Amino acid sequence: MTNAVIDLLTSHQSIRNYLDKPLTKEQVEAIENAVMQTSSSCFFQMVTTIKVTDKQMLAKIAKLSGDQHNIETCAQFWVFCIDARRFLKTNLLTTPIPFRLFYSGLNDVSLSCQQALVAAESMGLGCVVIGGHKAGIDELSQMLNLKEGVIPALALCIGVVDEEYKEDQLKPRLPKQCLFMDNTYNDDAFNQAVLDEYNQKMRDYYMSRKHGKRDDNWTNSCVQMLPPLNSPKIKTALINYIEKQGFSLSF
Ligand SMILES: Cc1cc2nc3c(=O)[nH]c(=O)nc-3n(C[C@H](O)[C@H](O)[C@H](O)COP(=O)(O)O)c2cc1C
Repeated sequence: MTNAVIDLLTSHQSIRNYLDKPLTKEQVEAIENAVMQTSSSCFFQMVTTIKVTDKQMLAKIAKLSGDQHNIETCAQFWVFCIDARRFLKTNLLTTPIPFRLFYSGLNDVSLSCQQALVAAESMGLGCVVIGGHKAGIDELSQMLNLKEGVIPALALCIGVVDEEYKEDQLKPRLPKQCLFMDNTYNDDAFNQAVLDEYNQKMRDYYMSRKHGKRDDNWTNSCVQMLPPLNSPKIKTALINYIEKQGFSLSF
Protein backbone atom coordinates (compact mmCIF):
# COMPACT_ATOMS: atom_id res chain seq x y z
CA MET A 1 0.00 0.00 0.00
CA THR A 2 1.32 3.41 -0.85
CA ASN A 3 0.22 6.97 -1.51
CA ALA A 4 1.88 10.32 -2.14
CA VAL A 5 2.67 10.92 1.56
CA ILE A 6 4.15 7.44 2.09
CA ASP A 7 6.17 7.83 -1.12
CA LEU A 8 7.55 11.11 0.17
CA LEU A 9 8.41 9.73 3.62
CA THR A 10 10.10 6.63 2.23
CA SER A 11 12.22 8.59 -0.22
CA HIS A 12 13.86 10.85 2.39
CA GLN A 13 17.56 11.54 2.16
CA SER A 14 19.47 14.29 3.95
CA ILE A 15 20.55 17.05 1.58
CA ARG A 16 23.73 18.96 2.38
CA ASN A 17 24.30 20.81 -0.91
CA TYR A 18 22.06 23.64 -1.99
CA LEU A 19 21.74 26.11 -4.84
CA ASP A 20 22.28 29.74 -3.92
CA LYS A 21 18.54 30.52 -3.99
CA PRO A 22 16.23 31.80 -1.29
CA LEU A 23 13.02 30.08 -0.24
CA THR A 24 9.84 31.79 -1.42
CA LYS A 25 7.52 33.50 1.06
CA GLU A 26 4.88 30.88 0.24
CA GLN A 27 7.27 28.01 0.99
CA VAL A 28 8.24 29.52 4.34
CA GLU A 29 4.61 30.12 5.28
CA ALA A 30 3.66 26.56 4.36
CA ILE A 31 6.45 25.11 6.52
CA GLU A 32 5.51 27.40 9.41
CA ASN A 33 1.89 26.29 9.19
CA ALA A 34 2.93 22.64 9.22
CA VAL A 35 5.14 23.23 12.29
CA MET A 36 2.35 25.10 14.11
CA GLN A 37 0.03 22.10 13.81
CA THR A 38 2.53 19.66 15.37
CA SER A 39 1.28 17.58 18.28
CA SER A 40 2.29 19.08 21.61
CA SER A 41 2.89 17.33 24.92
CA CYS A 42 0.09 18.45 27.35
CA PHE A 43 -0.50 21.18 24.77
CA PHE A 44 2.26 23.17 26.48
CA GLN A 45 3.38 24.47 23.05
CA MET A 46 6.95 24.68 24.30
CA VAL A 47 8.56 25.31 20.91
CA THR A 48 9.83 28.53 19.40
CA THR A 49 11.52 28.36 16.02
CA ILE A 50 14.13 30.92 15.04
CA LYS A 51 14.68 31.18 11.28
CA VAL A 52 18.24 32.26 10.60
CA THR A 53 18.87 33.69 7.11
CA ASP A 54 21.61 36.23 7.88
CA LYS A 55 24.71 35.09 5.95
CA GLN A 56 27.18 36.19 8.61
CA MET A 57 25.25 34.40 11.31
CA LEU A 58 25.05 31.28 9.15
CA ALA A 59 28.82 31.34 8.68
CA LYS A 60 29.39 31.63 12.43
CA ILE A 61 26.91 28.85 13.20
CA ALA A 62 28.56 26.61 10.58
CA LYS A 63 31.88 27.14 12.34
CA LEU A 64 30.67 26.56 15.88
CA SER A 65 28.89 23.40 14.72
CA GLY A 66 32.18 21.80 13.68
CA ASP A 67 32.69 23.47 10.30
CA GLN A 68 29.49 22.22 8.72
CA HIS A 69 29.55 23.84 5.29
CA ASN A 70 25.90 22.95 4.65
CA ILE A 71 24.82 25.37 7.40
CA GLU A 72 26.63 28.21 5.66
CA THR A 73 25.08 27.51 2.27
CA CYS A 74 21.50 26.61 3.14
CA ALA A 75 18.75 29.15 2.47
CA GLN A 76 17.41 29.04 6.01
CA PHE A 77 18.64 27.49 9.25
CA TRP A 78 15.71 26.84 11.54
CA VAL A 79 16.58 26.52 15.22
CA PHE A 80 13.93 24.68 17.20
CA CYS A 81 14.06 25.87 20.79
CA ILE A 82 12.54 24.31 23.87
CA ASP A 83 10.70 27.33 25.24
CA ALA A 84 9.46 27.46 28.84
CA ARG A 85 9.88 31.23 28.93
CA ARG A 86 6.18 31.89 28.32
CA PHE A 87 5.49 29.98 31.58
CA LEU A 88 8.21 31.92 33.44
CA LYS A 89 6.84 35.24 32.23
CA THR A 90 3.33 34.41 33.37
CA ASN A 91 4.52 32.93 36.69
CA LEU A 92 3.10 29.51 35.87
CA LEU A 93 6.62 28.25 36.50
CA THR A 94 9.68 29.39 38.38
CA THR A 95 13.25 28.24 38.00
CA PRO A 96 14.58 25.63 38.30
CA ILE A 97 12.21 24.28 35.66
CA PRO A 98 11.68 20.56 36.33
CA PHE A 99 13.28 18.00 34.03
CA ARG A 100 9.78 16.77 33.09
CA LEU A 101 9.29 20.01 31.18
CA PHE A 102 12.66 19.69 29.48
CA TYR A 103 11.63 16.20 28.35
CA SER A 104 8.23 17.44 27.06
CA GLY A 105 9.92 20.30 25.27
CA LEU A 106 12.49 18.02 23.68
CA ASN A 107 9.73 15.75 22.38
CA ASP A 108 7.84 18.71 20.93
CA VAL A 109 10.97 20.13 19.34
CA SER A 110 11.81 16.81 17.67
CA LEU A 111 8.33 16.44 16.24
CA SER A 112 8.29 20.06 15.04
CA CYS A 113 11.61 19.63 13.29
CA GLN A 114 10.43 16.49 11.50
CA GLN A 115 7.16 18.21 10.57
CA ALA A 116 9.19 21.04 8.99
CA LEU A 117 11.42 18.57 7.16
CA VAL A 118 8.48 16.69 5.68
CA ALA A 119 6.70 19.90 4.68
CA ALA A 120 9.85 21.23 3.02
CA GLU A 121 10.56 17.97 1.22
CA SER A 122 6.95 17.85 -0.01
CA MET A 123 7.73 21.06 -1.92
CA GLY A 124 10.90 19.55 -3.42
CA LEU A 125 13.24 21.36 -1.01
CA GLY A 126 16.19 19.63 0.65
CA CYS A 127 16.91 19.42 4.38
CA VAL A 128 19.27 18.04 6.94
CA VAL A 129 18.60 17.87 10.67
CA ILE A 130 21.42 19.42 12.71
CA GLY A 131 22.53 18.52 16.21
CA GLY A 132 26.14 19.57 15.74
CA HIS A 133 25.45 23.07 17.07
CA LYS A 134 25.54 21.60 20.60
CA ALA A 135 29.34 21.89 20.44
CA GLY A 136 28.96 25.69 20.53
CA ILE A 137 25.61 26.02 22.27
CA ASP A 138 26.64 28.95 24.51
CA GLU A 139 27.88 31.01 21.58
CA LEU A 140 24.78 30.17 19.53
CA SER A 141 22.58 31.09 22.44
CA GLN A 142 24.18 34.52 22.70
CA MET A 143 23.95 35.05 18.96
CA LEU A 144 20.24 34.25 18.99
CA ASN A 145 19.64 36.41 22.08
CA LEU A 146 18.11 33.50 23.97
CA LYS A 147 16.82 34.15 27.48
CA GLU A 148 16.34 32.00 30.55
CA GLY A 149 13.90 29.17 29.81
CA VAL A 150 14.90 28.80 26.16
CA ILE A 151 17.21 26.06 24.78
CA PRO A 152 18.18 25.62 21.10
CA ALA A 153 17.68 21.87 21.07
CA LEU A 154 17.62 20.93 17.39
CA ALA A 155 18.05 22.63 14.03
CA LEU A 156 17.27 22.11 10.37
CA CYS A 157 19.03 23.32 7.22
CA ILE A 158 16.50 23.99 4.46
CA GLY A 159 17.48 24.88 0.91
CA VAL A 160 16.93 24.43 -2.79
CA VAL A 161 18.43 21.05 -3.72
CA ASP A 162 21.56 20.92 -5.82
CA GLU A 163 20.46 17.87 -7.82
CA GLU A 164 24.04 17.06 -8.79
CA TYR A 165 24.71 16.01 -5.19
CA LYS A 166 21.54 14.00 -4.72
CA GLU A 167 22.34 10.32 -4.21
CA ASP A 168 20.68 7.65 -6.35
CA GLN A 169 20.44 5.34 -3.37
CA LEU A 170 18.92 5.97 0.03
CA LYS A 171 20.98 5.22 3.13
CA PRO A 172 20.06 1.63 4.11
CA ARG A 173 18.49 1.17 7.53
CA LEU A 174 18.91 -1.76 9.91
CA PRO A 175 16.75 -4.73 8.91
CA LYS A 176 13.07 -4.42 9.74
CA GLN A 177 13.05 -7.30 12.24
CA CYS A 178 15.40 -5.31 14.52
CA LEU A 179 13.32 -2.18 14.31
CA PHE A 180 9.79 -3.49 14.70
CA MET A 181 8.58 -6.11 17.14
CA ASP A 182 5.20 -7.55 17.95
CA ASN A 183 3.90 -6.97 21.45
CA THR A 184 7.11 -7.68 23.34
CA TYR A 185 10.82 -7.01 22.88
CA ASN A 186 12.64 -9.75 21.01
CA ASP A 187 16.23 -9.65 22.20
CA ASP A 188 17.31 -12.21 19.59
CA ALA A 189 16.36 -9.98 16.67
CA PHE A 190 19.69 -8.21 16.65
CA ASN A 191 22.83 -10.34 16.75
CA GLN A 192 26.35 -10.50 15.31
CA ALA A 193 25.23 -12.16 12.06
CA VAL A 194 22.63 -9.43 11.46
CA LEU A 195 25.22 -6.78 12.27
CA ASP A 196 27.82 -8.30 9.91
CA GLU A 197 25.33 -8.40 7.07
CA TYR A 198 24.21 -4.83 7.71
CA ASN A 199 27.79 -3.59 7.96
CA GLN A 200 28.48 -5.14 4.56
CA LYS A 201 25.40 -3.44 3.12
CA MET A 202 26.53 -0.10 4.55
CA ARG A 203 30.03 -0.59 3.21
CA ASP A 204 28.60 -1.21 -0.28
CA TYR A 205 26.48 1.94 0.10
CA TYR A 206 29.40 4.14 1.23
CA MET A 207 31.63 2.80 -1.54
CA SER A 208 29.10 3.24 -4.32
CA ARG A 209 27.63 6.63 -3.52
CA LYS A 210 28.32 9.52 -5.87
CA HIS A 211 29.78 11.89 -3.28
CA GLY A 212 31.67 11.35 -0.04
CA LYS A 213 32.70 7.80 -1.06
CA ARG A 214 34.47 6.07 1.79
CA ASP A 215 35.50 2.64 2.97
CA ASP A 216 33.30 2.54 6.05
CA ASN A 217 30.53 0.61 7.74
CA TRP A 218 27.81 1.31 10.30
CA THR A 219 29.70 0.16 13.40
CA ASN A 220 32.70 2.26 12.48
CA SER A 221 30.60 5.34 11.71
CA CYS A 222 28.96 5.03 15.15
CA VAL A 223 32.35 4.65 16.84
CA GLN A 224 33.50 7.85 15.13
CA MET A 225 30.51 9.77 16.46
CA LEU A 226 30.36 8.37 20.00
CA PRO A 227 33.60 9.55 21.69
CA PRO A 228 33.12 13.32 21.39
CA LEU A 229 29.58 13.09 22.74
CA ASN A 230 30.84 11.08 25.67
CA SER A 231 33.71 13.40 26.35
CA PRO A 232 33.34 14.90 29.84
CA LYS A 233 34.12 18.39 28.45
CA ILE A 234 31.14 18.53 26.08
CA LYS A 235 28.88 16.74 28.56
CA THR A 236 29.67 19.20 31.34
CA ALA A 237 29.32 22.18 29.01
CA LEU A 238 25.88 21.00 27.88
CA ILE A 239 24.68 20.27 31.41
CA ASN A 240 25.98 23.63 32.61
CA TYR A 241 24.23 25.36 29.72
CA ILE A 242 20.89 23.61 30.36
CA GLU A 243 21.08 24.59 34.03
CA LYS A 244 22.07 28.15 33.15
CA GLN A 245 18.92 28.40 31.04
CA GLY A 246 16.89 27.63 34.16
CA PHE A 247 16.18 23.92 33.69
CA SER A 248 16.81 21.30 36.35
CA LEU A 249 18.02 17.87 35.39
CA SER A 250 16.04 16.26 38.19
CA PHE A 251 12.29 15.66 38.29
C1 LIG B 1 19.08 14.58 16.03
C2 LIG B 1 19.85 14.55 14.73
C3 LIG B 1 21.01 15.29 14.62
C4 LIG B 1 21.71 15.32 13.41
N1 LIG B 1 22.80 16.13 13.30
C5 LIG B 1 23.43 16.22 12.11
C6 LIG B 1 24.50 17.15 11.94
O1 LIG B 1 24.86 17.89 12.85
N2 LIG B 1 25.07 17.21 10.72
C7 LIG B 1 24.67 16.43 9.66
O2 LIG B 1 25.27 16.55 8.58
N3 LIG B 1 23.67 15.54 9.80
C8 LIG B 1 23.02 15.43 10.97
N4 LIG B 1 21.95 14.59 11.11
C9 LIG B 1 21.47 13.81 9.93
C10 LIG B 1 21.85 12.34 10.01
O3 LIG B 1 23.24 12.20 9.81
C11 LIG B 1 21.08 11.56 8.93
O4 LIG B 1 19.70 11.69 9.14
C12 LIG B 1 21.45 10.08 8.96
O5 LIG B 1 22.79 9.88 8.63
C13 LIG B 1 20.60 9.28 7.96
O6 LIG B 1 20.81 9.75 6.65
P1 LIG B 1 19.58 10.22 5.75
O7 LIG B 1 18.84 11.28 6.52
O8 LIG B 1 20.19 10.72 4.47
O9 LIG B 1 18.73 9.02 5.51
C14 LIG B 1 21.23 14.54 12.30
C15 LIG B 1 20.06 13.79 12.43
C16 LIG B 1 19.37 13.81 13.62
C17 LIG B 1 18.07 13.01 13.74
